Amino acid sequence: MAIILGIESSCDDTSAAVCKDGKILSNFIASQKIHEEYGGVVPELASRAHIQNIVPVVDTALKKAGISKKDIDAIAFTQAPGLIGSLLVGAQFAKSMALALHIPLIAVHHMQAHVLANIIPSGENDADPKPTFPFLCLTVSGGHTQIVLAHSPLHLEVLGQTIDDAAGEAFDKTAKLLGLPYPGGPLIDKYAKEGNLDAFVFAKPQIPNLDFSFSGLKTSVLYFLNKEKQKDSDFVEKNKMDLCASIQKTIIDILMKKVKKAVEQTGIHQVCIAGGVSANSGLRNAFTELGRKHGWKTFCPPFQYCTDNGGMIAITGYYKFLENNFTDLTVSPTARAAW
Ligand code: KG4
Ligand code: ZN
Repeated sequence: MAIILGIESSCDDTSAAVCKDGKILSNFIASQKIHEEYGGVVPELASRAHIQNIVPVVDTALKKAGISKKDIDAIAFTQAPGLIGSLLVGAQFAKSMALALHIPLIAVHHMQAHVLANIIPSGENDADPKPTFPFLCLTVSGGHTQIVLAHSPLHLEVLGQTIDDAAGEAFDKTAKLLGLPYPGGPLIDKYAKEGNLDAFVFAKPQIPNLDFSFSGLKTSVLYFLNKEKQKDSDFVEKNKMDLCASIQKTIIDILMKKVKKAVEQTGIHQVCIAGGVSANSGLRNAFTELGRKHGWKTFCPPFQYCTDNGGMIAITGYYKFLENNFTDLTVSPTARAAW
C-alpha cells in the first residue's frame, strides 16, 4: 500500500493531490487570478502567490483525502520544466516536508505527468475506460505541444513536437489580438461555440514529420485583422464569434492532421489527449469524431486533470514509487529539461 502526496507549482496554478494505490483521493487546485490584468503570467508574482498558497493547498488536499501527514509514504513534486521561481517554491516545500517526515522524495517531469493524467481512474467507481500501454498521446499545453508514444508509465518517447509556439500559446496570443483577456484559450472555446467555423480561412503550416508550428497562425491572424480594421474599425467586435470559431478550427485541424499521421506511422490505435488545451470542447469533439471515423479508441482526461494539477504529479509519483525511483535532497528544479 502506498500513499503519495503530489505537488504541482510549475506555472500559475498551485496544486496538491493525494494518491493511494494508484487512485486519486483528492486533487485541490488554487488558480492565480493576479495575472489577468497583465495579459500573461508574471513570473515573480507567480512565485509569490505560490508561497502564499502552498501551505493551505497541501493542507486542504490532505483534509479532503482524510489523510494525516504521518500516513504519507512519499512526496512527489514537479521538478521540471516550468518557471524557475515557481518550481523552486514547490521543490523547497516538498524537500522540507520529506525531510521532516523522514520519507522519500520523488522528482516528476511535468510533461510526463500530463500524459499519465490519462490513466488516473475516473468516473463513478472508476468506470471510465482507460488506455492500456502502448498508447499515443497528443499533449497540448501553454508551453508544449508534443506527440508522445507511451510504452509504459515511465518509458515515454517524444515522436514530434512544436518547433516554435505551443498550441496553448496560439490560443492565448490570437485571443490577445482579438482583445480578449489572459488566458484566452477558454474564452475562444466559449465564443467559438456561437460562431461559424468556416467564416475565415487562415494559413496552415507545412511542417514535415510529426512536428508542429504555430507561430505563423498568429502572424496570419494579425495581418488579416489589420487589413479588415482599415475598412471597418469595429471588425473584430462585429465578428468575434466567427473569428474565434475559425481560429479554433485552424488549430484543431493542424493538431488532428499530425495525430492521424502518428497513428498511421506507429499502427497504435489507442490515442489520448492531455494538457490545458485538451479541455477545449471543439478539440475533444473533433478528436473523438476522428477516432470514431478511423476505429481508434480515444481517451480525453476529465477536465480537472487537463490543466495543471497535483493529481497527475501524484499518479506519476506513485509509478516511480513502485520502482523505488527516488531522488535525494540535493535535487534542484530546472526550467527546461529533456525527458
Ligand atoms: O497545461 P496547462 O494548464 O499549463 C501548462 O503546462 O502550460 O495549459 C495552459 C494552457 C493555456 O494556454 C490555456 O489558454 C489553455 O491551456 N487552455 C485552453 C482551454 N483551457 C485551457 N485552450 C483552449 N480551450 C480551453 N478550453
Ligand atoms: Zn502543464
